[in-house]
Amino acid sequence: MLFGSRKLQARIRASPRSLAYFLMCCHRSFTTTRVNALNIAVITGTTRTQGPPRPILGPRVASFITKSLEARGNTYTVVDPNSFELLDKPQFAYASSQVPAHLKDVQKILEDADAYVCVTPEYNHAPSPGLLNVLNHFGSSTFSFKPSAIVSYSAGQWGGTRAAIALRPILSELGCLPVSAMIHLPSAQEIFDEDGNPYENTEKWQNYTDRCFSQLEWWGTAAKKHKAETDPFDQSPSLQKDPSQRNAP
Ligand SMILES: Cc1cc2nc3c(=O)[nH]c(=O)nc-3n(C[C@H](O)[C@H](O)[C@H](O)COP(=O)(O)O)c2cc1C
Repeated sequence: MLFGSRKLQARIRASPRSLAYFLMCCHRSFTTTRVNALNIAVITGTTRTQGPPRPILGPRVASFITKSLEARGNTYTVVDPNSFELLDKPQFAYASSQVPAHLKDVQKILEDADAYVCVTPEYNHAPSPGLLNVLNHFGSSTFSFKPSAIVSYSAGQWGGTRAAIALRPILSELGCLPVSAMIHLPSAQEIFDEDGNPYENTEKWQNYTDRCFSQLEWWGTAAKKHKAETDPFDQSPSLQKDPSQRNAP
């Protein structure tokens, strides 16, 4: 399922799989255990419409990532920063009856998710402002007690690692702790075609993403099971007034 700009949706939907990639996905969907399959919100980062590189990298990377999640038996919804205005008032600052419809829709997607995947380009050694803008619209009560995974990419040789590291404390603050394995995609324009299929080394790229996503699924399943027994907000209630509620005495 996709939520976000029509352009991104069309790009991802239209992706015809290369035969090799298609066969690999079929093989994987039969061989991968589905015990840990999750419902995942994939939050993307680019808000650009034009390169260089051409076409831009975000949709190619998002397509590769969503296909990889699906091949492991997960379901997903893409949240696209292009569908957000710059932060005016976050969802938690509205009276519940006044929350704008768009924020309500995305909040439901985020709340229904068992885990998050954040896909960020690196801009000036930082995560994309579009991704941060989406995150800033919602409070930690939306994200807490679930795991997250970080995917970073760039046109350069470091694959957005600096952006990825900078994103870790932000996700921790939101309570969706990032798993240890991250996915970094250097010179992504040389890895993926326009449909997000690797030009070569498909299996190696898939094994690389599997490590990260298997961690996400393990933690996501553990959290889901434990939440069914114990409400985490019982002893750590969400902040109702302001951050001073967590001040030291
Ligand atoms: C404002 C801006 C800052 C950038 N800063 C970096 C950077 O710090 N490191 C890097 O490797 N690439 C950097 N790049 C190049 C991006 O990796 C490249 O443009 C990539 O395609 C961005 O992803 P996108 O096409 O999905 O927007 C930057 C690009 C832009 C537009």
